[in-house]
Amino acid sequence: MTQPATILVLNGPNLNLLGSREPEIYGHETLADIEVLCRRKTESFGARLMFHQSNHEGELVDHIQTARGNADAIILNAGAYTHTSIAILDALGTVAMPIYEVHLSNIHRRESFRHRSFVSRVADGVICGFGSLGYELAIEAAARKLGLEPVP
Ligand code: DQA
Repeated sequence: MTQPATILVLNGPNLNLLGSREPEIYGHETLADIEVLCRRKTESFGARLMFHQSNHEGELVDHIQTARGNADAIILNAGAYTHTSIAILDALGTVAMPIYEVHLSNIHRRESFRHRSFVSRVADGVICGFGSLGYELAIEAAARKLGLEPVP
């Protein structure tokens, strides 16, 4: 495990537009707001946060590869690549660490093309429909899986 433990939160395409993108589906918080929540939650377990967003599939693959040896858990909202990307699935298959899949919206209540997730095939857990709280829940799950305790 890295010292301190490091949690990578990775965000896929169009999530940079949160706040103005279909707020009735994704809420009013920006990605910067979500990063603040994630940092607070991660630090409450004495861990370190790495937080990235990319619109590019290959760049997301690069971030996942970089996690090898540099992070201890991955929390991934791959956006639309969730439903299409075998490259991201394969990259996730190369890391030996807990992987949690997050979606702001409840993908199962939406169009049928969103019901299939390649990420789910390798995820230890999936959280969807809880908005930004989902990220915090996933960080808590990752921290506990890594044996971290909340710092008093
Ligand atoms: C999403 C759901 C995906 O289907 C969609 O393509 C997104 C966001 C979510 O967080 O709810 O970009 O991952």
